[in-house]
Amino acid sequence: MSILTLGIESSCDETSVSVVRDGREVLSNVIASQIDLHKAYGGVVPELASRKHVEAITSVVDHALKEAGVTAEEIDQIGVTAGPGLIGALLVGVTAAKTLSYVWDKPLIPVHHIEGHISANFIEHKDLEPPFVCLVASGGHSHIVLCEDYGVFRILGRTRDDAAGEAFDKISRALGLGYPGGPKIDREAKHGNPEAIHFPETKFQDSLDFSFSGVKTAVLNYLNNEKAKGNEIVVADVCASFQRAVVEILTRNLLLAAKETGIGKVALAGGVAANSALRASVSKACEEAGLAFYRPAPILCTDNGAMIACAAHYAGLSGRRGGLDLNGVANWNLEQIPAIFG
Ligand code: KG4
Ligand code: ZN
Repeated sequence: MSILTLGIESSCDETSVSVVRDGREVLSNVIASQIDLHKAYGGVVPELASRKHVEAITSVVDHALKEAGVTAEEIDQIGVTAGPGLIGALLVGVTAAKTLSYVWDKPLIPVHHIEGHISANFIEHKDLEPPFVCLVASGGHSHIVLCEDYGVFRILGRTRDDAAGEAFDKISRALGLGYPGGPKIDREAKHGNPEAIHFPETKFQDSLDFSFSGVKTAVLNYLNNEKAKGNEIVVADVCASFQRAVVEILTRNLLLAAKETGIGKVALAGGVAANSALRASVSKACEEAGLAFYRPAPILCTDNGAMIACAAHYAGLSGRRGGLDLNGVANWNLEQIPAIFG
C-alpha cells in the first residue's frame, strides 16, 4: 500500500505545497513565489513574507491536491517545515499544517528545512540511500553534512560568516543586477572570464568550514576602487571571477569531506546547488575521484514542498510526530532532530 504525504514549505519567500507518493514520486509541487514582491527591496522583507504566505496558503493547498488528482481523505500524513527560517513565515505553514492535521485527522510530521533540501536528492535519484556526503548551500546556510541515515545528520563543516547564497545576493545587489542574485550572477558569468580578476578564497587549516565574507569584501573593494579610478567595470568578468572563487572553495571542501569520511557518494542541495558552474565543477571532481555524484533538478534545489514531503515520509516511517502544540523554531540545529522530535 502506498503512502501519500502532503508537504508544506513556508520558511522564507516561497509558499509551496506538494503531494508525494512513497517519498519519491512527486504528484504535484505547487510553488507560489514572492520574488517579485521582495525584488523592490533587494531582499526578503520578513513581515511582507508572512502576510503573503497567509494570503496564498489555502489556495496553494487546494492547487496541490487538485494537480495531484487526490482528495484530502486520500492524504495519509502532513509534513511541514517547522524550522529554521523566518519565524513569522514558518508559523503560517505550521499553523496551516496543524489545522489540516486536526480537521482531516491525519498525523503531523515536523521537518527541518535543511533535511528537506537534502531529501530533494531522493526524489531525483530513486536509488540513492544514505550514507552520503552533502553540500547544502542556500541563502541562509552553507553546511557540509554527513547524511548517516534518513533524518540523522552530522555537520562536518559550516560557514563562519555569510552563507554562500547570501554572498551571491550581496554581490548581485552591488552590481545592480537585483534579487535573487544567484541566478543572475550564474547567467552573467557565462559570458565572462573566470580568471579576469583574482578574488581570494578563504581556507581554514584542518577544517571543512567556510568563510565567504572575505571574497565578498574583496569584490566590493574591487568595485569601489575601479569606480573611484573611473574605470569601466566588466560585469560578466566580475561575476565569473567571483563565482569561480566561491565554486572552488565549495568543491574543495566537499571533496575533502568525501575523502575524510571515505564515503563514495557526494550530493548537492539548496538554492546554490542550482548554480551551473558548481554543478559542473563538483561533477568533474567526482568523476576524477571515482565518486558517485547526485544533485536535484534546479526546481528542487530552491525551496519547495516536495522536498519537505519526501523528508516527512522517511521521518514518519521512523515514528516522528508533531502535536497540535507544534511551534515554529527559528533556530534549530540539524543534529538535534531526534532529540527534539524522536
Ligand atoms: O534554498 P533557497 O531557495 O532558500 C533558502 O533556504 O535560503 O536558496 C535561495 C538562495 C538565494 O541566495 C539565491 O541567490 C541562491 O539560492 N541561488 C543561486 C542560484 N539559484 C538560486 N545561487 C547561485 N546560482 C544559482 N543558479
Ligand atoms: Zn531553503
